[in-house]
Amino acid sequence: MKTIIEPFRIKSVEPLRQTTAEERAGLLEEAGYNLFRLRAADILIDLLTDSGTSAMSTEQWAAMMRGDESYAGSDSYFRLKRAADDLMGFRHVIPTHQGRAAERILFSVLCKPGHIVPNNTHFDTTRANIEFTGAQAVDLVKTEAHDTQARLPFKGDMDTEGLERLIEEHGRERIPLVMVTITNNSGGGQPVSMANLEQVRAITQRHRIPFYLDACRFAENAWFIHEREAGYADWTARDIARRMFSLADGCTFSAKKDAFANIGGLLCTNDDRLAQLEEDLLILTEGFPTYGGLAGRDLDAIAVGLTEVLDPNYLQYRIASTAYLGRGISDLGADRGVPIVEPPGGHAIYIDAGRMLPHIPREQFPAQSLAVELYRHAGIRSVEIGSVMFGAHAQHELLRLAIPRRVYTQSHIDYVVEAILEVNSRKERLRGYEITAQPEFLRHFSCQFRPVS
Ligand SMILES: Cc1ncc(COP(=O)(O)O)c(C=O)c1O
Repeated sequence: MKTIIEPFRIKSVEPLRQTTAEERAGLLEEAGYNLFRLRAADILIDLLTDSGTSAMSTEQWAAMMRGDESYAGSDSYFRLKRAADDLMGFRHVIPTHQGRAAERILFSVLCKPGHIVPNNTHFDTTRANIEFTGAQAVDLVKTEAHDTQARLPFKGDMDTEGLERLIEEHGRERIPLVMVTITNNSGGGQPVSMANLEQVRAITQRHRIPFYLDACRFAENAWFIHEREAGYADWTARDIARRMFSLADGCTFSAKKDAFANIGGLLCTNDDRLAQLEEDLLILTEGFPTYGGLAGRDLDAIAVGLTEVLDPNYLQYRIASTAYLGRGISDLGADRGVPIVEPPGGHAIYIDAGRMLPHIPREQFPAQSLAVELYRHAGIRSVEIGSVMFGAHAQHELLRLAIPRRVYTQSHIDYVVEAILEVNSRKERLRGYEITAQPEFLRHFSCQFRPVS
């Protein structure tokens, strides 16, 4: 059969609430044109994030009933540790309430002013947590990857020549760790090849710098390697994932992505001394090292998710369904198609709003303008990944349509395609926005805008 179906059936449903375009225009104004400030109940299709928004499986819900809520030494922790050991193989597995908590602890222990942390592309919380310690976060993705239209198989690859130059220029003492984000979320959800991870491993080993993965979407990355990288077609996604983890000294992991959990994260390391320092900090703000800010039942949900996500039927469907949205809005001929970051990524489609709306300068946030209009027109929530999120570090003005795992069906996605094409057909009428109020860090969460008159 050629048709790739959703490899699950639906047992429990949540109604969606319809609103009118007039109602949504009022809600937008009240929210200061910031889609993070809307109530979720006022959204029809929520593509803000794939994080924590997955539908859990019957096995995950069943596992939650087995959750052991003991303060110390809970069975749930040991089930999670077994699942993580079997997949990741790190000596220490420290649960945290989500990925950014793992980042905060890791960077608090390793980074100080004057330090530099390279990554292919830092995610916003990763960058903010590094900068909060006074260190500098540097993005090192290959030059070709900056061209949103280039259809390359591994656009998430780190620029290893740039990494060598950076180490030579600043000295290994100023680089407490090197990170690679798989898949590269802020760079378009693009995968990183095994060959690239091996190169980064070789460089960091030579300079005795710890190498960490930001492993949120490790399973999607593994599937891309299986499909695209020579020599891996016969490998299972699990074996590819194991190989990726074996190259690193540790990882941060948000279980809200590829573990299908609604909350949770992990901080893993092979370094005993570091693990001790991390656990000391963990107790201050997250909790005892066998629960790390989570309920026992959350640990069990993650343990099951870590195994389920590597099912080849799921991964094939996941990557194909994301591409379905991408091809649906872009493959329509030069005039009607919407420019997306090519090729489609694993968890999201990124519209190149800078290219789609050339009449809106980047200081007026073209991707924000598109996000606002998509919500006003069709009740769809998406997120700006550009100058609002990254300020001067933004490489592009992108609008991300992140697809929650196992949540929406093909007809929901057909609706999204239709809505985007309608907005595209009158794109010249979209206007820019200016910021009226903003905090110092992570301004995209709470800043407010007004349309430029
Ligand atoms: C690549 C990447 N790193 C880190 C994080 C932070 O994880 P969390 O949202 O669980 O704090 C995210 C979240 O979206 C992410 O995409």
